[in-house]
Amino acid sequence: MTLNNNISPKAKLGKNIKIGQFNIIEDNVEIGDNVEIGSFCIIRSNVKIKNNVILKNHIEIRENTNINVSTFVDSYVAISGNVKVGKNVTLRYGTILARGAVVGDNCYLSPRVMLNNLNQEKKQIGGANIGKNSFIGTQSVLHHGVKIGANVTVGAMSFVNKDCKANKTYVGIPAKEIVKKKK
Ligand SMILES: CC(C)(COP(=O)(O)OP(=O)(O)OC[C@H]1O[C@@H](n2cnc3c(N)ncnc32)[C@H](O)[C@@H]1OP(=O)(O)O)[C@@H](O)C(=O)NCCC(=O)NCCS
Repeated sequence: MTLNNNISPKAKLGKNIKIGQFNIIEDNVEIGDNVEIGSFCIIRSNVKIKNNVILKNHIEIRENTNINVSTFVDSYVAISGNVKVGKNVTLRYGTILARGAVVGDNCYLSPRVMLNNLNQEKKQIGGANIGKNSFIGTQSVLHHGVKIGANVTVGAMSFVNKDCKANKTYVGIPAKEIVKKKK
C-alpha cells in the first residue's frame, strides 16, 4: 500500500484506499473511504477529499482544496489552492483550475479546460465560479472571476470573459449566447 509513496503521518486516510506509486500526501490531508489514487500525484497540505473520489495519474492538488463525493479527476489535472469541487463532478484530462475556483455538483469539464486567475498586472482575481450541472467544452478558457450559472453549456474552444446566465449555451471567442437548435 505505501510502496514508494511519501505519506505524511499527519494525513488521515479512510477505509479501502487504493493507491499506486510515487505519490506525495502532505500534512493534514483528509481522504475519505473508497478513494482511488493513481501514481505520481501530489496532494498538498489541508486538502480534503471525500468518499468515492477517483484520482488518476500525475495530478497536483494544492493547499486547502475540497473535493466532494463521487468526483472523477482525470490524469494531468492541476488544481490550485482554495478550490471547491462539488459532488459527482468530472474533470477530464489536463484541466487546470485556478486558485479559488468553484465547480458545482454534477459539472463536466472536458479535456484541457483552463480556468485562469491572474489579470494582466499579475494580480490574483480568483478562478471562475461554475454553477451545478454545467458542461464546459474542450479547450475552453474561463477568464478570472467569471460566474457561470447552473445548467450552462460552453462550446468547445470558447473564451468566456463575461458571466453566463443559467440554462443557456455560449460559444466562441469571446463567448456569446446561442439558441440551441432542436434536433
Ligand atoms: C456548443 C455545442 C454543445 C452546440 O451544439 P448544438 O446545440 O448542436 O449547436 P449547433 O451545432 O447546431 O451550432 C449552433 C451554432 O453555433 C455554432 N457553434 C457550435 N459550437 C461552436 C463552438 N464550439 N464554437 C463556435 N461556434 C460554435 C455553430 O457553428 C452554429 O452556428 P450557425 O447557427 O451560425 O450555423 C457544441 O457545438 C459543442 O461545442 N460541444 C462541445 C463538444 C466537446 O467539447 N466535447 C468534449 C467531450 S469529451
